[in-house]
This record gives sequence, C-alpha cells and structure tokens, in this order.
Amino acid sequence: MPQTVKGVIARSKDADVEVVDIVVPDPGPGEAVVKVHTCGVCHTDLHYKQGGINDEFPFLLGHEAAGVVEAVGEGVTEVAPGDFVILNWRAVCGQCRACQKGKPWYCFATHNAKQKMTLTDGTELSPALGIGAFIEKTLVAAGQCTKVDPEADAAAVGLLGCGVMAGFGAAVNTGGVGMGDSVAVIGCGGVGNAAIAGAQLAGATTIVAVDIDDEKLDAARRFGATHTVNSGKTDPVEAIKEATGGFGADVVVEAVGRPETYEQAFYARDLAGTVVLVGVPTPDKQVTLPMIEIFGRGGALKSSWYGDCLPSRDFPMLVDLYRQGRFDLDAFVTEKIGLGDIEKAFEKMERGEVLRSVVVL
Ligand code: APR
Ligand code: ZN
Ligand code: ZN
Repeated sequence: MPQTVKGVIARSKDADVEVVDIVVPDPGPGEAVVKVHTCGVCHTDLHYKQGGINDEFPFLLGHEAAGVVEAVGEGVTEVAPGDFVILNWRAVCGQCRACQKGKPWYCFATHNAKQKMTLTDGTELSPALGIGAFIEKTLVAAGQCTKVDPEADAAAVGLLGCGVMAGFGAAVNTGGVGMGDSVAVIGCGGVGNAAIAGAQLAGATTIVAVDIDDEKLDAARRFGATHTVNSGKTDPVEAIKEATGGFGADVVVEAVGRPETYEQAFYARDLAGTVVLVGVPTPDKQVTLPMIEIFGRGGALKSSWYGDCLPSRDFPMLVDLYRQGRFDLDAFVTEKIGLGDIEKAFEKMERGEVLRSVVVL
C-alpha cells in the first residue's frame, strides 16, 4: 500500500519551501523504502530551490541522510528491513566505462529509484540528487543504501552522505594525503573542515586552514589545523608558503568554488604538489593561469566528485573512526531542527552561521 507522509518540497524557483503530504509507493524491484531518522541541510538543496541545478520543479529536497530500511522490493540483496543505513547519491552501475576501468567514483550511470514519489494530486516530484530525504520515509534504489553500525548517532553519521564525505575524500581519496605531508585547505565550512579532519587522520603534520571568517578558523583548529590564516587580512599564498618552509603545500584542497580561491589553491602548492578542487563553481566563472606556471610546477590539478568515495568502503570505515572517537562527526552538527525549520536553516547557511543544520525526524 502506498503511504502518505510529510515531506519538504520546493514548489517553484525561489519560493519558500513547504511541508506537504507526499505519497510514497511500495518499493518495486531493486528499490527500498527507508524511514528517515536524520537529514543534513546541504548547499545543493539550496541550489535546487534557487533553480540553479535544473528546472524540474517541484523538488523533494534533502539528500544527506541516515535511517532504517522499512521494506525492500523484489530482488534486493544489498539491504534488508531493519538495517540502519546511510544514503548515498552515487549508486554505481558496475558496467559503464568508468566502472569497468576500476574508477567507479566517476560512474555517470548511477541508479535511482524507478518509481516516483508524488504529491496527493499525482504531481511527480524530482528528488534532490536522486534521494529526497526531508521526508518521513523515502523511496530509493537499494544500491543507495549502505548498511552501517546501528549504534552510531544518526545525526552525525548521516552527514557522511554528502558534505563530510566530499571533504574528507577530497583530502584522503583524491589528494592522497599521506604521513608527514603538508596540507592547505581553503574554505573551512563543513566540506573544508572535513578535509582538515581527513588530512589529520591521514598523518599530515602541517595543516593550514584558510578562511575569511575567524569563527570558521576556530572550528578548523578543533578539527586539526596547525595554522590558520584569515585571507581577508593576510595573503594566503604567502602564509601557506611561510608555514611550509617556503615551499607551498603538498596537497591543497579548495572548498569554496570561487575564481580567487581556485587561483590561491593553484599558487599555494609546492612543486609537484596536488591541487584538489572540491568547491563547486557556478558555470559563469573563469580563471586565467599562466601556461608556464601550469607546465613548470608539475604535480596535478584534480577535481573531486563526492570525495571520490566508494560508499560501501568509506562509510563503514568513517563510522568506525567516529565510534572510536578519532573522527569528531558530532562537531559538524551545529543544530538539530524539525522539518518546518528548513527555510530558516537556509538563511543561516547563507549567513555562514552553521557548519550543518540537521533535520531530526
Ligand atoms: N576565501 C576563503 N574562504 C571563503 C571565501 C574566500 N574568498 N569565501 C567564502 N569562504 C568560506 C566561508 O567563510 C565558509 O567558511 O568558505 C566556507 C564555505 O563553507 P560553506 O558555505 O559551509 O560551504 P560547504 O558546505 O563547506 O561547501 C563548500 O564545497 O562541495 C562544495 O558545493 C560546495 O562549493 C561548495 C563548497
Ligand atoms: Zn558505472
Ligand atoms: Zn550535498
């Protein structure tokens, strides 16, 4: 029997989000219905609401979630009812060229639920990043569920579903930070601070945090930064060089997505260092770099998609680190809110007041 539950939609471009009744079908083949326990509020949800991703309104927002599998459809073997899971937005296909090359984190034929959740009048909803988790129960592809330790706090580990994984993976998976490395992180929101935590766990000995907001830099110190730079007051490239014996960092993670920070990241790396771009730019932005510098510096310019993660490998590992007290996921949770508070949470996000607001259901 399809169920009617409460969820949060963006009905049209820039309209305030609304809590409405939503019809969730029973899971079909390869699908699962998940009772959502928590869902973080991510920038991408705001981008959907602003029409910045596409115009397939109405959107069912939310995609950074943990919960318990309620029911599964035919042929589902990945998870079973009762499993505590983190949802991911890249259930890889296993068959495309990227998957076949052994780089499934570049898979662009990822699976989502085939059926649609709808409004009570039958209007089909577009779930944010193929999830849609600001809702009491959601319908996803079974491959979007990764089973993890049920003792872990859902508000904390749900954040692995997007921003924290993106940042952590940018440093560790894409940047390959190793023992004794120097790392600079530009932009210390949820994503940048997760990169700092990842760099520390991977053994970096110098971690320079750069932001224009002193409060974010205080948080960065708590996550493991050894140096902090307010780039509104001090030239960050010079400060990073100074903190790294004049060389620049082995790995620079950019977690803002603006032209000036992309440029800073480029110049802040040591010769043969790696620049990891995880901050998502808007399509209109450009940077200009001297070719001789691109050539002469060697190393690598990389972008990082979802932290180049493999959910089945990385989510349980990060939950273990959290449970062992080695990765402070709780520190990303600035506030816990209800489904009716999401509009306010977007405002706080835009004012830079939160690392994460997390909806608890
Ligand atoms: N220089 C340095 N830091 C900056 C600058 C700048 N010019 N402009 C903004 N910042 C800082 C903000 O002060 C904030 O601390 O960047 C941080 C951005 O953090 P959030 O807004 O919390 O965003 P977050 O969720 O961390 O995502 C960062 O990564 O995955 C992408 O889409 C995401 O592009 C976004 C980026
Ligand atoms: Zn694939
Ligand atoms: Zn997200």
